[in-house]
Amino acid sequence: MNIPLVPMAEAPADHAAIEQLLDLSFGLSRHTKTSYRLREGNSAVEGLSLVIRDPEIGIAGAISYWPVTIGHAMSPAILLGPLAVHPARQNIGIGRALMNTSLNKAKELGHKLVLLVGDAPYYARVGFQQLPIGLLQLPGPVDPKRFLYLELAPDALEGVKGLVLAPWRSVELLAALAEPHR
Ligand SMILES: CC(C)(COP(=O)(O)OP(=O)(O)OC[C@H]1O[C@@H](n2cnc3c(N)ncnc32)[C@H](O)[C@@H]1OP(=O)(O)O)[C@@H](O)C(=O)NCCC(=O)NCCS
Repeated sequence: MNIPLVPMAEAPADHAAIEQLLDLSFGLSRHTKTSYRLREGNSAVEGLSLVIRDPEIGIAGAISYWPVTIGHAMSPAILLGPLAVHPARQNIGIGRALMNTSLNKAKELGHKLVLLVGDAPYYARVGFQQLPIGLLQLPGPVDPKRFLYLELAPDALEGVKGLVLAPWRSVELLAALAEPHR
């Protein structure tokens, strides 16, 4: 199958087809995953939601990223995912094209640190590594072998530690912690 591997910006009209692709790729239980806790009440990072379109099947692949903040310092990072490629179009470079284009854009936009939960052997191909165990925590269970990071700027992980949350949750949590005990 020869389709042009050209990632394009996701359009609002793509939303339903992307949701269907995600259901097909990860099953309906995908919403119970820890990564989804970081997407609740959050908005995808502008400019980094990309799709590859196919004249026969519509959306052949899609990727998006979500802003997160880490620990008391509220260090900023972005969470990659979901990344999904239609079963009929896998292993022809769509996933890699979506990752390369979006990661280059993320760097251009000034993002410095990318996190994800996923298959390490696949994401290692673009430079992701396992996080040191215990350095960062997620708001739910995660297999440490699947909790990965990529620095888009030198030493972006330096000094970063703590709980990874959607930015609005970090603000609420820190405000609650700052309240004097009664
Ligand atoms: C994982 C996924 C995004 C890969 O996208 P893709 O467009 O098929 O992959 P690419 O064409 O960019 O790369 C293909 C290569 O990656 C390898 N690969 C694919 N999925 C892999 C995985 N989960 N782990 C390790 N390697 C993998 C292939 O064997 C192939 O290797 P080769 O280049 O040596 O032949 C896609 O298969 C998918 O959406 N799967 C369903 C969801 C899923 O299983 N996600 C798991 C990752 S979180």
